[in-house]
Amino acid sequence: MRRSRLVGCGAYLPDRVLSNDDLAGRIDTSDEWIRTRTGIGQRHVAADDELTSDLACAASRKALESAGVDAADLDLIVLATSTPDNTFPATATKLQARLGMTGGIAFDVQAVCAGFVCALSVADSMIRSGGADTALIVGAETYSRILDWDDRQTCVLFGDGSGAAVLRAEDGDGTSDDRGVLAVRMRSDGRHYQALYVDGGVSTTQTSGYLRMQGREVFRHAVANLAEIAGEALEAAGLTPADVDWLVPHQANRRIIDATGKKLGIPAEKTIVTVERHANTSSASIPLALAAGIDDGRIASGDLLVMEAIGGGLVWGAGVVRL
Ligand code: ACO
Repeated sequence: MRRSRLVGCGAYLPDRVLSNDDLAGRIDTSDEWIRTRTGIGQRHVAADDELTSDLACAASRKALESAGVDAADLDLIVLATSTPDNTFPATATKLQARLGMTGGIAFDVQAVCAGFVCALSVADSMIRSGGADTALIVGAETYSRILDWDDRQTCVLFGDGSGAAVLRAEDGDGTSDDRGVLAVRMRSDGRHYQALYVDGGVSTTQTSGYLRMQGREVFRHAVANLAEIAGEALEAAGLTPADVDWLVPHQANRRIIDATGKKLGIPAEKTIVTVERHANTSSASIPLALAAGIDDGRIASGDLLVMEAIGGGLVWGAGVVRL
């Protein structure tokens, strides 16, 4: 059975760091409020001349290096972003040119914070159906550009960054012992469009707009939906939460991460948490957490991972991957 094996990953965070105290110097908030409600301690912010494609390129180069794959051998790039360089073309095509990939296809997916799971799903489907052999999947965001820095309810929550992973076609036995992507499940419910959205856009205001969120509503949906979809993905792979070595969740909020792990029955010691250092980097947060777990030696070859995320739409999903 043809599988997509995850053979490398990489991460990039901009140099500039903004602490909670830095924010408390500008708006009416405090380190204590932000930490207690979200677990966030700081966030990285892109330099004025740093674009989403720059972040994506830096993370992608590291992922390719760690995979030992030459960019010329890629035949697919799926870039998840809700902060593209331009309205069109896809930021993925800029990345394609900069990496030196001339064949295949590069395109963006827009599933906000669930973007990386969506990219995983799309790339895995294309690889398994024979439409691609070697794929780069990327999450890259510059949310600092769409934050209303006077809105304390949202601006304290997000950061900039990028993470990437390389998937390669391999033959497996078709069992849950195989290495690679074992199952992905995705859902959306557009009735919650207004719960988390950007109040601008090409067709509405011809401006890029600012992020608006009903925090409580998002929180309410997050835990139930994430635990359910992760359970469905595990079941589809013929596995249970007890088989999981590492939960690699979207890093929106420590309370959402803890509550989802608890609901799934995956203990905190088996959960990768980077939200304190990175804040919510939307589509970049899962590959950033994955890279952090691999770099510090916690996540090892052969480990079973569950990745899960929810974001604007609402869109949510989970992927089960054996490294
Ligand atoms: N600093 C200080 N006080 C604040 C801040 C702040 N940054 N933000 C809001 N407050 C105040 C509010 O004004 C309110 O004051 P009031 O009681 O005088 O009216 C009080 O704190 C409580 O506000 P709530 O919004 O009710 O606080 P809540 O406990 O719901 O926490 C939070 C807000 C952290 C946003 C929470 O709802 C949450 O985590 N939601 C999930 C949203 C999320 O993570 N979104 C990320 C994108 S989606 C995703 O990635 C999953």
